[in-house]
Amino acid sequence: MGMGQQPILILREGTKRDKGKDAQYNNIQAARAIADAVRSTLGPRGMDKMLVDSMGDVTITNDGVTILKEIDVEHPAAKMLVEVAKTQDEECGDGTTTAVILAGELLKKATDLVEANVHPTIITAGYRMAATKALEILETVAEPVDIKDRETLRKIAMTAMMSKSVSGSREHMADVAVDAVVKVAEKTDGHYVVDLDNIQVVKKHGGSMDDTEMIEGIIVDKEPVHPAMPKKLEKAKILLLDAAMEIKKTEIDAKIEITDPSQMQAFLHEEERMLRDMVEKIKKSGANVVFCQKGIDDLVQHFLAKEQVYAARRVKKSDMEKLSKATGANIVTKLDELEVDDLGKADLVEVKKIQDEEMTFVTGCKNAKAVSILIRGGTEHVVDEIERSLEDANSVVAIAIEDEKMITGGGSSAVEIALRLREYSASVGGREQIAIDAFASAMEVVPTALAENAGLDPIDILIDMRKAHKNGKMHAGLNVFEGKVDDMFKLNVLEPFRVGKQAINSATDAAVMILRIDDVIASKGGHGGGGMPGGMPGGMPGGGEGLGDMD
Ligand SMILES: Nc1ncnc2c1ncn2[C@@H]1O[C@H](COP(=O)(O)OP(=O)(O)O)[C@@H](O)[C@H]1O
Ligand SMILES: [Mg+2]
Repeated sequence: MGMGQQPILILREGTKRDKGKDAQYNNIQAARAIADAVRSTLGPRGMDKMLVDSMGDVTITNDGVTILKEIDVEHPAAKMLVEVAKTQDEECGDGTTTAVILAGELLKKATDLVEANVHPTIITAGYRMAATKALEILETVAEPVDIKDRETLRKIAMTAMMSKSVSGSREHMADVAVDAVVKVAEKTDGHYVVDLDNIQVVKKHGGSMDDTEMIEGIIVDKEPVHPAMPKKLEKAKILLLDAAMEIKKTEIDAKIEITDPSQMQAFLHEEERMLRDMVEKIKKSGANVVFCQKGIDDLVQHFLAKEQVYAARRVKKSDMEKLSKATGANIVTKLDELEVDDLGKADLVEVKKIQDEEMTFVTGCKNAKAVSILIRGGTEHVVDEIERSLEDANSVVAIAIEDEKMITGGGSSAVEIALRLREYSASVGGREQIAIDAFASAMEVVPTALAENAGLDPIDILIDMRKAHKNGKMHAGLNVFEGKVDDMFKLNVLEPFRVGKQAINSATDAAVMILRIDDVIASKGGHGGGGMPGGMPGGMPGGGEGLGDMD
């Protein structure tokens, strides 16, 4: 369709373009590089990664999504895999490494098929069929979970924390997680819903991991502003104030001319009267605890202390909101408009010393769904890793309660899916059959990586596992500590159904999306890391159509 011999240029000079198999190959390589980066962290015997950011700050973690969020990824296809981890994290809080390595493996198997001249359209169609079937199979191997079954919930929490460095305190952490999540779970329309935002997490390094505890209430990282204020108040009446208890200094340079000493006195008296008036209003309302988002004048502090009122200043907005939700207090912006109904209630407000610092504990709140977890641990790094582990534990317990369904881990569900997908593919026939078989093999990356990371021979393990599943042992998985195939129910390796389901869904979506791309057009402005086209707008080159051939 050219005009004469002259090629028509429709792209700006300097635009980088990869087409057909080249584009596919580059994309797949980039995505697989991401999967390889986290593969060695999978499972209880996985390794940790040390991440150093541009500021030199160090994070040591085993958490797939944390690793991928921290590393700076350029390539658009690689970015898509990072998205898989983020989605998995948002939906389930666990299974991020699994989802990413599964996507990487689906792409690896697809490369083999592309090289054998199977068209990507056939591969993606087969993958879609396989994913649908895989989810059906997963449903059939799932077992019920009940919110009252604490023991099972603890096992689910412990499995999620298995690969974290907190493993020494897992039992204790699992108890904390189950306590907190069960407490905030709410039943609506016959189903439980868990809003994890109701669990406040407060970190304080120093002390031991085992001092980490759940508190039924809110922790405010503040001490009273005046040493003479009470440190323990029962039947607290709580005022949340978003206004300064100070006299506003005039903004404009107003000059006050004082001609004789009595005027000076009057001026100071007036100031004092206004401050006293504030304290009077608080006293009249009946409040004995004040959380103030702004500053508190020295004189007000003194008067409040004299009245035996507890007061903390410069309380974070997020803490004010949590206190409001928990105690039923309204956040008051003008003391003049304070009414008795604005006050919140708690059975106890108590100041406690945690590692040389005082913190305020508000417990026995009106809203019993307000709970906090106080995380303790030797250093800041330890405390941060505990936080990540507890987040995982809270999430898995929450979704297990919500879905009332669980599966077994250690690669057991993956191998069962692989086995039954192979039976299914035979019934499908046609070219898609090859793609479904490839999907089945890709599922086996889970036990394979678990075995590799445990220093075992993945092939031997896989053979044993397939055999066990053929003999009807659908919960047979890898005992990574003894290096043999075992019943995962017996070993208490339990996971929420949603973690497995989401991993299959997002890995398939990402693999299919990457496979459908046969043209990458990158504008000149991109960063172009490692010779690859970078800086794609939105990072998502769309469908496979591209711009058609030019010559
Ligand atoms: N005790 C155990 N024995 C065998 N496998 C386990 C055990 N505990 C956890 N696993 C497996 O480890 C995998 C999860 O590893 P993890 O590093 O947490 O990655 P992810 O980010 O995918 O959650 C799952 O396949 C899970 O079944
Ligand atoms: Mg995990």
